Amino acid sequence: MAKKHPEGYLSARESRRISKENRRITAQFEKKRKRKKVPESEYLTQMHDSANAVEFDNLHTYFFTDAGTVKSVDGVTFDVPLGKTVGVVGESGCGKSVTSLSLMQLLQRPQGQVVEGEIRLNLGDGKAYDIAKTPNETMQSLRGNFISMIFQEPMTSLNPVFRIGDQLDEVIELHDGEGKSKEDIKRRTIELLEMVGIANSEGVYSMYPHELSGGMRQRVVIAMALACNPKIIIADEPTTALDVTIQAQVLDLLRGLKDKINSSIMFITHDLGVIAEMADYVVVMYAGRVVEKGTAQDIFTNPAHPYTIGLMASKPVVGKQVDKLYSIPGKVPNPVNMPNYCYFKDRCEMQCADCAGQYPKEVSISDTHKVSCYRYYEKNRKGGEA
Ligand SMILES: Nc1ncnc2c1ncn2[C@@H]1O[C@H](COP(=O)(O)OP(=O)(O)O)[C@@H](O)[C@H]1O
Ligand SMILES: [Mg+2]
Repeated sequence: MAKKHPEGYLSARESRRISKENRRITAQFEKKRKRKKVPESEYLTQMHDSANAVEFDNLHTYFFTDAGTVKSVDGVTFDVPLGKTVGVVGESGCGKSVTSLSLMQLLQRPQGQVVEGEIRLNLGDGKAYDIAKTPNETMQSLRGNFISMIFQEPMTSLNPVFRIGDQLDEVIELHDGEGKSKEDIKRRTIELLEMVGIANSEGVYSMYPHELSGGMRQRVVIAMALACNPKIIIADEPTTALDVTIQAQVLDLLRGLKDKINSSIMFITHDLGVIAEMADYVVVMYAGRVVEKGTAQDIFTNPAHPYTIGLMASKPVVGKQVDKLYSIPGKVPNPVNMPNYCYFKDRCEMQCADCAGQYPKEVSISDTHKVSCYRYYEKNRKGGEA
């Protein structure tokens, strides 16, 4: 009798075959990417709405691993309007970071590749680039100047062996240093440190990262992200590594800065409470897809997707006594082997007969509020659902 293997088991032979196939696929992507002097016309595009800073359009980002293709982002579409904050929320592993890394073109290559879709970046004056096709050289000048990123763990963004001042000076010199003397650059660094609420800015200028507390370090990282007045800031779980009081301070800081700098912010978190404080618009992701999106008002007063409803229910509420906090049953499907029906179906407590069919299309609940769920299809609504 043949030996029974657990689900997901790969024989050495199969694994070799996948790995060879992956090399073939990624080599094609890499070859395209490494071309020199790509004409601008190849990546020039048009925004669908000039009031948006970024438009993700049917983005697919896959990782070609030896265990199979991980469809980390599998058809994500949403907009980041100019000057607004968009909160991207979803549990760990749902593809939030991969979405933002696709925009920065900082995916782990060669295995990580944008395989389909567009990311339109509004450069102003009617000009836009499709980031999915933009070559490295051009990207270099956009990163930092135009789009910048605040990462989760400040210690991984700061170099432990250089002083804070030198690290900030370097950013300014590299991206914005033309015609500036050393003194000018230092003045700008001090100004930035003060802007993010560091009182002893001269002192901190000559300190090493380990001499600062976690909150201070995150402030420095935020200063670094703001150094070149970027139009778009991606904050990827900027407060997750901090303790709660510091988290509140850093959120306050970001909220204050939001009005001052007038940039668009893509705020990524798994914490709905943080989203409620920060975001104008909310995008809810589940297993590499957007399941619901709308204004913060839409999502918080009228959550529609069973996943969003579950997330809301699993949030503690001050003053409300419960024996046990709600948790969504089951687990996320294996990203290498996604089902061909709704990815949330197996965990859903509100499913209907249609849910076994193909993945639900997005339906509009209002002009701003969209959801991908069969419960909101016309024929299912007649059942008198809430
Ligand atoms: N370098 C990588 N190689 C393979 N898989 C990856 C890589 N980076 C991320 N993934 C996978 O992509 C999925 C989404 O990850 P991520 O975007 O980091 O999640 P999160 O929403 O928590 O930020 C996860 O299933 C993760 O395992
Ligand atoms: Mg992440």
